Amino acid sequence: MNRALLPLAFAALALAEGTTPAKPATAPATTPTPTKTSGPVSERERIYNEKIAPLMEKSCVGCHNAKKARGHFRADSLAGLVKGGEDAGEGISWGKPKESSVYLLAAANRSEKLAMPPKKSDKPALTPAELETLKIWIETSK
Ligand code: HEC
Repeated sequence: MNRALLPLAFAALALAEGTTPAKPATAPATTPTPTKTSGPVSERERIYNEKIAPLMEKSCVGCHNAKKARGHFRADSLAGLVKGGEDAGEGISWGKPKESSVYLLAAANRSEKLAMPPKKSDKPALTPAELETLKIWIETSK
């Protein structure tokens, strides 16, 4: 997809998600830059901060963080997502959601052994709309 279309894609997505409860704002309005980097925030980081990090927080970070990194995978940073875990390959392969273990495991059929979060966990699986958000982000933010 053309880069210039990305904001449109996400606007359409926001409309499609209109029936789900509003997500809490990720950063206080007084914070001009949500990341530690000094330069302008890339589209990829901006969408990560606004849309992806809250999804990971809801369903993944409980088992994938600094203290407890199941499968040697951390879901609490963009770098951790990109890296992935010990066996399933790259967490994110930009442009290729079907080669990105983070997407594949989160989107796996619930009966699959490696489906994330694990069936028995108390964390909710990502909804179809949330999976679509993750997929479009991986596909389009080059
Ligand atoms: C209740 C705990 C729990 C939650 C919540 C959870 N996971 Fe996991 N995850 C695990 C465990 C345990 C493993 C190790 C799997 C294994 O070794 O069989 C793992 C492994 C992984 C791996 C690494 C696979 C590899 O070896 O390369 C990825 C990627 C992953 N999870 C993604 C996610 C994503 C994305 C979410 C949220 C949608 C999530 N997980 C939520 C427990 C959890």
